[in-house]
Amino acid sequence: LPRVRIAPSLLAADFARLADSVSRVPNADWLHVDVMDGHFVPNLTVGPVVVAALRHVTSLPLDVHLMVESPESMVEAFARAGANHLTVHVEATHHLDRLLRHIRELGLRAGVALNPGTPVEALDYVVELADLVLVMTVNPGFGGQHFIPQMVRKVEAVRRLLEERQLSCDVEVDGGVDDKTAPALVQAGATVLVAGTFVFKDDDPAGAVTRLRRVSGA
Ligand code: DX5
Ligand code: ZN
Repeated sequence: LPRVRIAPSLLAADFARLADSVSRVPNADWLHVDVMDGHFVPNLTVGPVVVAALRHVTSLPLDVHLMVESPESMVEAFARAGANHLTVHVEATHHLDRLLRHIRELGLRAGVALNPGTPVEALDYVVELADLVLVMTVNPGFGGQHFIPQMVRKVEAVRRLLEERQLSCDVEVDGGVDDKTAPALVQAGATVLVAGTFVFKDDDPAGAVTRLRRVSGA
């Protein structure tokens, strides 16, 4: 089995002390940055300016999750800001194939995300263009929501698709991931665990990362 990576989500960190929050998870594999535009999801967060600032305080890969309408208009700005991975939602663009190719041409890892209500079939013609598949395990927009248990079956279906096509794509899960929900997700084939609340609402964020690693057998 591939090794499991832990990606703390800065959405649950203190936005007035982002550098401090980053320094509290030195044992993370990636840092997950949630970009929301108030249209695709009913919340607003940060843009390329903040990604560029984070770039100066960490060498960890910046895993940028774009919850925005028409992400094609923003990928170059996030690439210039120093993002390493750009994940876009299948529901947010009319030209997913072109967009995934463009992200790779910019030299970044391309991610494709599915909302909870979106079937795995949406990946059929684009999965070869992706370096990671993000299965949303809550409806995007907010941290601290309850994990949707039916999404374990979706992770299994994505893993099956990747195996059938012999693709080495990562499967990332995001939303309500903690030490209780992680084991079933890893068992189902997830290779990247995003966790916001579980990591940053803990008094010891690095300890939370370690606990998540341990229950995931990673
Ligand atoms: C939700 C975001 C998540 C969020 C997860 O729309 O995509 O990355 O930070 O937060 P928790 O881990 O608190 O559910
Ligand atoms: Zn996210």
